Amino acid sequence: MARFVLLLTVSGLFSQALSQTGLAPKQYLSLPLGSIRPTGWLFDQLMVQTNGLAGHEHEFYDYVSETDWMGGPSYYSSLEEGTAIVLLFNAMVPNGILANNSAIIERTQEFLDYVLDHQDSTGWMGPEVNTTKPRYLWGRYPFMFGAIQMVEYNPDLTDRVVDALYKFVNLANQMLHNNGEGIEPWTQTRWEDFVMTLQWLYDFHPNGNEALLIDTMEQLKYTGVPWEEVFEAQYFPTTATDDLPNPLGYVLSWHGVNMAEGLKALPATYRFTHNQSDLDRASEGWDLLFQYHGRPSGIYAADEYLAGLEAARGTELCLVVASIVVVDCLSQAQTGSYLYQVIGDPKYVDRVERIAYNALPAELTGDFWSRQYLQQQNQIAAKNMTPPYSNVFGLEPNYPCCTVNHPQGWPKFITNAFVTTADQSSLAQVYLGPFQTQTTLTTENPVTVTVNTIYPFSDLLNTTITAAKAFTYYVRIPSWVVNGTISINGGEAAAVSPNNGLQAVPVEAGTTTFTLNLPAEITTESRPHGSIAVHRGPLHYAFDIPRTSKVLIQNAEQPDAKDLEFDATAAWEYAIDPSTLKFVNNPPASGTLPSPVYDSGLPPLSMTVTACPINWPVAGSTFASAPPTNPACTGAQKTITLTPYGATKLRIGEFPVFTAK
Ligand SMILES: *[C@@H]1O[C@H](CO)[C@@H](O)[C@H](O)[C@H]1NC(C)=O
Ligand SMILES: *[C@@H]1O[C@H](CO)[C@@H](O)[C@H](O)[C@H]1NC(C)=O
Ligand SMILES: *[C@@H]1O[C@H](CO)[C@@H](O)[C@H](O)[C@H]1NC(C)=O
Ligand SMILES: *[C@@H]1O[C@H](CO)[C@@H](O)[C@H](O)[C@H]1NC(C)=O
Ligand SMILES: *[C@@H]1O[C@H](CO)[C@@H](O)[C@H](O)[C@H]1NC(C)=O
Repeated sequence: MARFVLLLTVSGLFSQALSQTGLAPKQYLSLPLGSIRPTGWLFDQLMVQTNGLAGHEHEFYDYVSETDWMGGPSYYSSLEEGTAIVLLFNAMVPNGILANNSAIIERTQEFLDYVLDHQDSTGWMGPEVNTTKPRYLWGRYPFMFGAIQMVEYNPDLTDRVVDALYKFVNLANQMLHNNGEGIEPWTQTRWEDFVMTLQWLYDFHPNGNEALLIDTMEQLKYTGVPWEEVFEAQYFPTTATDDLPNPLGYVLSWHGVNMAEGLKALPATYRFTHNQSDLDRASEGWDLLFQYHGRPSGIYAADEYLAGLEAARGTELCLVVASIVVVDCLSQAQTGSYLYQVIGDPKYVDRVERIAYNALPAELTGDFWSRQYLQQQNQIAAKNMTPPYSNVFGLEPNYPCCTVNHPQGWPKFITNAFVTTADQSSLAQVYLGPFQTQTTLTTENPVTVTVNTIYPFSDLLNTTITAAKAFTYYVRIPSWVVNGTISINGGEAAAVSPNNGLQAVPVEAGTTTFTLNLPAEITTESRPHGSIAVHRGPLHYAFDIPRTSKVLIQNAEQPDAKDLEFDATAAWEYAIDPSTLKFVNNPPASGTLPSPVYDSGLPPLSMTVTACPINWPVAGSTFASAPPTNPACTGAQKTITLTPYGATKLRIGEFPVFTAK
């Protein structure tokens, strides 16, 4: 009854405004989970993850092991205590389906059933049901993302999930109107996650509830952190935030992971305000973040809070994943994917691809069993800094959050690799790599796309498309490509001519093939203290410091889950002469990359450069001080090799410079 009254009230108040507004459309739409599948090395990478910590933690890890998985008592509601199980659920729904792992698929189904079957009569979901625990909204947001993905994959679940979501939305709406009940400071920064679920309901299952949905979005925005102010240049921190007072008072807004979530807030807001300034501010905020806190690995630095540009400062794994992950209205998506889908600017997807192929794999051991909490651009050891323990590779260094959240990185990169145009008449590949995609475009046009490549470890991509009817296909040409070519149906190679980052490819009914060659030049990026970072195409290159490995802790139940200390076994104190950089490509004779590929000596691409030893002191016991400016060589010049950053676990990624004679 209460629900009924509320609906009437809300629609009475807002129907007039709505008739003129509604939700603004997105530029590009994502495809349902399961339509895009990884192939080749990327499928192998997903299997490495599935055979590693991600695919096994539910069997033994305290926070998510069987009992808690079903009961989820203390780890479900409070953000401080983890929400571990819902974060893992959100990640393992796409991981299980894309890896076609029946044990994981069954487990996620059991969890969905459990939560839906225990929703109480007020609409609340979670372990607070039948307890007196306080009810905060946030812990449900990752659950809703997981549930939405399950509905996309299996439409038979639609009614149950959508009904449960509406019961919860009605309750949340009342709570928000009741002086912002259910909000605490962390929830206040993450309101956009709930807005995305509301927008998914609006786009696909409005069922006459448009007014309720828009009103709930507005309530969330007005009770949450005003991201349009956080991302305003005059308030934005241009240095590490350590001792910096937050001028707006929203201390948690400068937390790295919250910021990754907050980047979605303005495009989400735009959809219900229709205010162009929301999109402009989203774009400005993105640029400010990377200008003042960006890393050559693609990510930005935040050892908890935004950390400036210095190479010894860390980047939290949750952030690597959160900034490339998080949610889209239709499917789960990365923040950058969502920004791209709403705004259409290719700068977002260029960066997501760099994060996925550099920063993400750098944060885990090659077998994906041990992960870091903090990643450093210049990382000369991975050991207990007493305290913190955060740059050890292990099961749960520092906090459990990254243990349960990191598995969403690859699956969500994969599920956002293709989009359709807003009218659903064209398909576009936005992340380059090996994939197979099947969808039906409007005008009843079933289409299959297969991309054969070892990109980013090669410049060549072969694409085969079958379609029932002619249409225009698009493929992203990254901004770093120089003299790229395309050859269609075996024809002569022609220069690519992208428009706003997308190359149009005319596709006829039947089969169309095309080959892309996307070379890039070696580029260097200026970093603090006159140092430089080296790139070619999507990959960032670093000096891989040879290491020893020592087991610090081994899990009693699962011996593969261990904490590892890495120590350097060779000199790393080099300056390089960038004019001597040479790109080296040793394509695998078999055409197949090793498995895993993200570990020392395994990728087929590298660079050589002339280097000389220098004095470069250590700070504390475990990290390199800032790169010395204009250092003198202390010994003979030699040639060193740089390798893809993601494959290095100890490394120098920002080098002092000298001039070779
Ligand atoms: C998933 O595995 C099942 C059982 O092994 C198989 O029948 C099915 O074809 C697989 N699906 C995909 C998409 O690979
Ligand atoms: C709450 O507890 C009562 C009494 O034990 C039980 O009958 C009811 O099913 C529980 N409700 C939910 C939603 O779990
Ligand atoms: C658009 O957003 C800007 C910045 O938040 C605000 O100043 C302005 O009032 C908004 N305009 C409308 C029509 O809401
Ligand atoms: C792409 O196609 C060309 C020409 O058919 C072939 O030589 C090459 O091996 C193919 N590469 C891949 C990665 O499939
Ligand atoms: C690109 O093409 C131009 C003109 O042919 C040539 O001068 C330049 O060296 C090429 N660049 C690369 C990276 O191949």
